[in-house]
Amino acid sequence: MDKQFEGKVALITGAGSGIGRATALALAADGAKVVVSDINVAGGEETVSLVTAAGGDAHFVKADVAAAAEVDAMVQETVGRYGRLDFGINNAGISGGWARVSEYPLDEWHQVLGINLSGVFYCMRSQLPYMLEQGGGVIVNVSSVAGLTGLAMAAAYTASKHGVVGLTKAAALEYARKNIRVNAVCPVFTKTPMVEAMFELDPTFEEKLKRSIPMRRYGTPEEVADAIRWLCSDAASFMTGHALPLDGGIMAG
Ligand SMILES: NC(=O)c1ccc[n+]([C@@H]2O[C@H](COP(=O)([O-])OP(=O)(O)OC[C@H]3O[C@@H](n4cnc5c(N)ncnc54)[C@H](O)[C@@H]3O)[C@@H](O)[C@H]2O)c1
Repeated sequence: MDKQFEGKVALITGAGSGIGRATALALAADGAKVVVSDINVAGGEETVSLVTAAGGDAHFVKADVAAAAEVDAMVQETVGRYGRLDFGINNAGISGGWARVSEYPLDEWHQVLGINLSGVFYCMRSQLPYMLEQGGGVIVNVSSVAGLTGLAMAAAYTASKHGVVGLTKAAALEYARKNIRVNAVCPVFTKTPMVEAMFELDPTFEEKLKRSIPMRRYGTPEEVADAIRWLCSDAASFMTGHALPLDGGIMAG
């Protein structure tokens, strides 16, 4: 039987680790050719090896999503190599440090906003013209539960992820009649290197956070990747402008 994404091309930022890597593996398993992009060369190349070992087709492109010119080059290289761009998975992000608003370091504010929010804007801005030209496509932006509700001590992260939800909705409206769907996923704490680094700072934090999640567990990168895979698929053909929580029930409370 044909795989559902046979002939499709996906570009995934931040695919050298965590959710991005799991998404690269999931889309490739369904037949998509994947461009794995990351600022971290070793991580990106490891993801390519994992995809290839599983029988998929992947190619690494180094790019810093906070640099618009690098993002343009990344998208051009994707289309140059594989001839099209069907799925733009704009996932690269950082957490930033923990501090009250009045004490939040200015350089860190700009860094978090530059990667998490401007980075997603630069990606969409580069990806959409190709999707328009080929007559369709799907964008999935990786926001967070912190894009739907406030996370104390993480103003830059919260603002950036709310911004991603807003950007997703604006673009969804603009391209709704162009066969381009734009959605966001909003995971709660998911066990990836980003979150493990937080737990190392305070070992009691892990248990405290778990208790705040109705299902009393963290999500896995594979669970987020499955939602992204579904949003890319024709099963989600009437869904655009949505911010989908993957949160063990936390947003229901
Ligand atoms: N893990 C969670 O609990 C969680 C929850 C909600 C949302 N998210 C979001 O999911 C996305 C992926 O996070 P993750 O948990 O897999 O983290 P991760 O740290 O495992 O992976 C993030 C990847 O992004 C890359 N990256 C960082 N800055 C970059 C830049 N400027 N340009 C290109 N690549 C860059 C890193 O090198 C890394 O490979 C992020 O946007 C994050 O905010 C994560």
